[in-house]
Amino acid sequence: MQFAEAKGARIPLIGLGTWDLRGRTCVHMVDQALRLGYRHIDTAEMYGNESEVGEGLRASGVDRNEVFVTTKVWPANFAPRDLEKSAKQSLAKLRLSEVDLLLLHWPNPNIPLADTLGALNRVKQAGLARHIGVSNFTVALINEAVRLSSEPLVCDQIEVHPFLDQSKVIAACRAHGMAVVAYSPIARGGAKSDKVLNRIGELYGKTAAQVCLRYLVQQGIVVIPRTSKDDRLKENFAIFDFVLSPAEMTEIGGLARRDGRVIDYSYSGSPNWD
Ligand SMILES: NC(=O)c1ccc[n+]([C@@H]2O[C@H](COP(=O)([O-])OP(=O)(O)OC[C@H]3O[C@@H](n4cnc5c(N)ncnc54)[C@H](OP(=O)(O)O)[C@@H]3O)[C@@H](O)[C@H]2O)c1
Repeated sequence: MQFAEAKGARIPLIGLGTWDLRGRTCVHMVDQALRLGYRHIDTAEMYGNESEVGEGLRASGVDRNEVFVTTKVWPANFAPRDLEKSAKQSLAKLRLSEVDLLLLHWPNPNIPLADTLGALNRVKQAGLARHIGVSNFTVALINEAVRLSSEPLVCDQIEVHPFLDQSKVIAACRAHGMAVVAYSPIARGGAKSDKVLNRIGELYGKTAAQVCLRYLVQQGIVVIPRTSKDDRLKENFAIFDFVLSPAEMTEIGGLARRDGRVIDYSYSGSPNWD
């Protein structure tokens, strides 16, 4: 297993994303992923599947200490007391005494970041999370968060894939020694029909999705692709036995386009999203 190292955290370069995996499917996919060798699972309180993620973890028989478990606090719970309660509820659902990484899921413009980070720091200091970090933070917010947090922030989890230029946020993470965790790393499946990724894949006997994921991990970016299919779990994991050339990396980097973002959302505090 290869890792991204950031401020004392060793994050496995590939993890299983679990957004939208529900019930028995979620238990099965987490169990199967761990049996196949995955050692990193990404969930969130908002996904409503933390109980199933914990169940899959126990079903796999893999030692808890070998698995890197991430969950996230929803921004409606960013007031300090709510955040502490949310972290405890996540642990109760997962049936774990601590998570490896606890993230602020989206920025919340309605609650002072200093207050939220103070609570996140306390949760870490109380031993409920081994590491803490953020998600969907812009360059300006990363800079502010790093200044306000006394405990190290180990990552920003953001949308990253070849069709979106995230170079500025990635540079800010690197400048602060933070890892980049790529969500929607195969652009919600969009990578599979891309001509360039398919052409390069043919040279290595790999699929377009594998080339897409390889492009990211080869830059030290952590990927958390999600699938509900056993064969794709294997496919997405088999990305460490080939190396893209510098020319191929440059060509894939050129696929970024203005409308490449697949997640078009920002938390406004509107009750519709709570
Ligand atoms: N922090 C945040 O705000 C945030 C936002 C979005 C996502 N995330 C996290 O990131 C994870 C991944 O992102 P995502 O779920 O948005 O998108 P993704 O992983 O880029 O794409 C998932 C989609 O691609 C398909 N797929 C998976 N492997 C494939 C392959 N090898 N070839 C072709 N299609 C494939 C899946 O369908 P099948 O099930 O049919 O395989 C699914 O429809 C999430 O599950 C979640 O854990 C975090």
